[in-house]
Amino acid sequence: MKLEHIPATADAPAVDIPAFDASPFAARRQALLQRMGSGVAVIPTGGEVLRNRDAHFPFRFDSYFYYLTGFTEPDAVLVLVAGEQPRSILFCLPKDETREIWDGYRYGPDVARARFAMDEAHDLGALDEMLPGLMADRDAVWFSLGHDAAWDARLNGWLNGVRGLVRTGVAAPGAVRDVRVPLDEMRLIKDAAELSTMRRAAVISCGAHARAMRFTRPGVREFQVEAELLHEFRMGGAQSPAYGSIVATGANACVLHYRADSAVCRDGDLLLIDAGCEVDGYASDITRTFPVNGRFSGPQRDCYELVLAAQAAAFAATAPGRHWNEPHDAAVKVLAQGFIDLGLLQGSLDGVLESKAFSRFYMHRTGHWLGLDVHDAGDYKLAGEWRPLVPGMVLTIEPGCYIRAADDIDARFHNIGIRIEDDALVTADGHENLTAAAPKSVADIESLMRR
Ligand code: GLY
Ligand code: MN
Ligand code: MN
Repeated sequence: MKLEHIPATADAPAVDIPAFDASPFAARRQALLQRMGSGVAVIPTGGEVLRNRDAHFPFRFDSYFYYLTGFTEPDAVLVLVAGEQPRSILFCLPKDETREIWDGYRYGPDVARARFAMDEAHDLGALDEMLPGLMADRDAVWFSLGHDAAWDARLNGWLNGVRGLVRTGVAAPGAVRDVRVPLDEMRLIKDAAELSTMRRAAVISCGAHARAMRFTRPGVREFQVEAELLHEFRMGGAQSPAYGSIVATGANACVLHYRADSAVCRDGDLLLIDAGCEVDGYASDITRTFPVNGRFSGPQRDCYELVLAAQAAAFAATAPGRHWNEPHDAAVKVLAQGFIDLGLLQGSLDGVLESKAFSRFYMHRTGHWLGLDVHDAGDYKLAGEWRPLVPGMVLTIEPGCYIRAADDIDARFHNIGIRIEDDALVTADGHENLTAAAPKSVADIESLMRR
């Protein structure tokens, strides 16, 4: 690992910290400043959240703030001043020997300014004093209004602070604009640095799914399989799972948001795993479903091949110019015909599509944007129409089939829950499956589990 040497200062000893490339983050700030045109953006990150007594939840930075800074400490604010002389200003916690003994290294404003390529950096304690001045004579404030009531109240305080200065001749901003609007559009198209991080997350998660397949056999419990996934995530260098891992065996697989619990994986049942790690803020999101004993039964195989065919159809509709809903429409069509062929639904394909009868067994959508958030930022429609896919977008493709036990369903299909999920990057001539390394075909899964 390349290290950066931070020399000693009056209030802190020298330290070596991992090297950091601020250039992608600086480029995103420049792009946002251009989109703003004028005004001041205020983008806070999160703070530590108490879990119980003296224990905190693991801290996770705000995705918008991180996207523009790369700064991972809690309690910081980015201020961007647009206009003829655009400026990036970071407010962060000051150096503090006592707090650093307890909680660990802090950059402090001086080191942070250089390392994160800011024009200025200040102690967070100066925020309330400085912001009214930074907002004076600016036409707009760009902010995530409504995201956090405490920050909304502080924004009101700063605005009233500027209004209090009007008799000195300054004007207060006349508009509060939603900074998420330009940022969501930017986040939708991944740059090279983001894609490189997302590929790393994808590789680790693929390894975790393969590990879970090798580990699983009749008698293991869901949480033991989860432990295998977590082991692979951390050993690969991921900071955490990107979301709570779903490890669901038997009938549990038909509960869409089931979490890994204590059920025993039984001979003859399937195991559905929806799990992905987060690397440097970026999510991967993979689902695989496989037989606990390593061999699909007839009905399990029929349903599995059907979901796989639906996924292939959705992938085939994932290319520049195709609109957002085309992969979903393609998957639904294959699934609906399959449900008819398996005797699960009656009637014609058109009838089943029209009545949405397929939704008894396939009730969710086929994907979502993926990035810093597992369900990532970005609109799905533009001016009321499904938006066209363009290169650089990353989306999941995750059809499924969930057959709950019921009197009118052939018992051989009862409790079969299957989802197959991959992460697709839209490329200039189609797509790339970022998670293709996770075993998926019946033959690949059965041969891996035989070993
Ligand atoms: N794991 C969340 C999702 O698949 O959408
Ligand atoms: Mn997903
Ligand atoms: Mn998922």
